[in-house]
Amino acid sequence: MMNAKPAVNVADLTVAYRDRPVLWDIDLQVPAGALMAVVGPNGAGKSTLLKAILGLVKPVAGMVELFGQPYRAVAKKIAYVPQRTSVDWDFPATVRDVVLMGTYGQLGWFRRPGQPQRKLADEALARMGMQDYANRQISQLSGGQQQRVFLARSLVQGAELFFMDEPFQGVDATTEEVILKLLHELRNAGKTVVVVHHDLGTVRDYFDWVTLINVKKIASGQLSEVFTPENISQTYGHRALIANPSA
Ligand SMILES: Nc1ncnc2c1ncn2[C@@H]1O[C@H](COP(=O)(O)OP(=O)(O)OP(=O)(O)O)[C@@H](O)[C@H]1O
Ligand SMILES: [Mg+2]
Repeated sequence: MMNAKPAVNVADLTVAYRDRPVLWDIDLQVPAGALMAVVGPNGAGKSTLLKAILGLVKPVAGMVELFGQPYRAVAKKIAYVPQRTSVDWDFPATVRDVVLMGTYGQLGWFRRPGQPQRKLADEALARMGMQDYANRQISQLSGGQQQRVFLARSLVQGAELFFMDEPFQGVDATTEEVILKLLHELRNAGKTVVVVHHDLGTVRDYFDWVTLINVKKIASGQLSEVFTPENISQTYGHRALIANPSA
């Protein structure tokens, strides 16, 4: 039933901070079941695009639908893993507490998580290889470990559509493998996953769909069709000479 509509439909989206547009007239569809990378240089508006889709920043113009509905109507089906560097990790909470926060949406804010939720949280931690850290303070983990905990938190939400902002940024090789495996498991389970990604060299191996943006949308579609040297250099300018995957 859900698959009839695209998971994400963005039309004429323009976002400005003060008077400066950072996203300009974006049209974008993400088909249900896609594993999509969003790529573009620093400051291209990638994080802003996710925030606008999730209603966290107010656009100047445009329309966003998720599974054919406004965000609020489907919020429980949506998981968001923010860019790690944008989160304050110094707050006092254990790893398990952080993952349990992912269950609040389903529970309602006034019911406390109980044994079933703790079991879900521990399963999600095990899936990310973090079961031994459940009682640690989140502030005491490495960057890659924190990223895995944040992903575990998104897993307990029971979401259909995932937005992840640079999950691979600054993680070690083990974490990279764990995250990649997770992305493929989510895709195989029919979930839709939109991932802001920095490393042009791995886009081909990791994703099926790609959106290239630099304030404007340069291209969006199946990787084999749109991840071309022309589109990449249009997105990155001269920087593509360093990272062009066909070079
Ligand atoms: N809250 C804000 N107020 C003002 N300007 C902002 C704000 N957030 C982002 N910007 C600006 O908007 C532009 C797009 O930022 P955004 O974080 O979406 O880029 P990005 O593509 O995610 O970059 P990065 O690769 O560095 O994460 C940048 O020029 C940034 O400086
Ligand atoms: Mg960003």
